[in-house]
Amino acid sequence: MNDLGLVEDGAVAIAGDEVIAVGKSADIAGRIELAENCSVISAEGKVVTPGLIDPHTHPVFAGTREREFEMRLAGQSYMEIARAGGGIRASVRRLRETDPETLYAQARKTTDRLLKHGITTIEAKSGYGLSTEAEIKSLEIIRRLNDHEAIDLFPTFLGAHEVPDEYRERRGEYVKLVIEEMIPAVAERKLALFCDVFCEEGVFSVEESRAILTAAKRAGLGLKLHADELKSTGGAELAVELAAVSADHLGYVSERGIKMLAASDTVAVLLPGTSFALGLEVTAPARKMIDAGVVVALSTDCNPGSSMTESLAMIMTLAALKLRMTTAESLAAVTVNAACAIGMGGKLGQLEAGFPADLTVWDAHDYRELPYHYGVNLVEKVIKKGKVVIDR
Ligand code: NIG
Ligand code: FE
Repeated sequence: MNDLGLVEDGAVAIAGDEVIAVGKSADIAGRIELAENCSVISAEGKVVTPGLIDPHTHPVFAGTREREFEMRLAGQSYMEIARAGGGIRASVRRLRETDPETLYAQARKTTDRLLKHGITTIEAKSGYGLSTEAEIKSLEIIRRLNDHEAIDLFPTFLGAHEVPDEYRERRGEYVKLVIEEMIPAVAERKLALFCDVFCEEGVFSVEESRAILTAAKRAGLGLKLHADELKSTGGAELAVELAAVSADHLGYVSERGIKMLAASDTVAVLLPGTSFALGLEVTAPARKMIDAGVVVALSTDCNPGSSMTESLAMIMTLAALKLRMTTAESLAAVTVNAACAIGMGGKLGQLEAGFPADLTVWDAHDYRELPYHYGVNLVEKVIKKGKVVIDR
């Protein structure tokens, strides 16, 4: 992860929506003949990276939950607020009564912000609907965004994000609904590439998660898991057992979980913004995982409850300070490794001939400025599939 393959005084040649050459400016200028209508973008003295990839976001929600932020400052925990009917369930009530146009407009604000922060691809979850109808409504918003906005979205069905109000006294029936009705409906409409579950004490148990993910796998979906976020429950182990593409959060991952992740292709997606915004001391043991050989990616976890941010650069700052990751490691974690976390390893997240022309130009002279100069947006230009989509 520390070898970024940095090119000093570099240039990138693009044809159509694809990178065709990367190297020293002089070398590229000698090798590539410019077409007549070709545009040259100067990034002199600036850093150019692959367009960032955010492998874990919840962008389809209605309303916001800043009141809960204040409640936590006053001493209540995330889980206390959730048990009292706030949290995810509060967002669910709002989303169900919101019409698709309003929902699209709000989600689009979020994806626009992500793009402005240099992120050209995201994984995007449903999970604030929790009925077949409202989950489909959410996934259809993600599909529309993917069709109409510059950013690419990889959709994930997260019907098992929480047990909704009307099933609190009969949770088994909700798990059954997810397995027997929602997963087939989502798969049939090809609305998702992945299925995710919030596996956590007080939300879905390892057994329930296994049942849901096994059904999803049978329906042809890839798997992801919110694992070991607030307690150690064996989530990482389950993710590896089922060959999930990623296990996410991992604040309380066990020793065995780390060993299993290291021996697998399952990517550990770490979300230091979440523990930061929840005011939690415990963070994922990133150093231990990286040193053990786990493939580590980073994400915003962008959502209205536990991590309201669209800045992966800010997440890199937290990765440095809280997870002790080097800047090179965190840059790899939001590009090449993040691609692996959405099943796109070797196809996305690198500046190399044959890769999509997704690039971010930073108003920075050294890549190490990215986490160092924190809390501001240093993005100058974003190029998506060969087109300049952000120019600040
Ligand atoms: O990733 N952990 C579960 N889901 C989100 C929180 C969602 C919410 O509170 O609205 C997360 O942290
Ligand atoms: Fe999440």
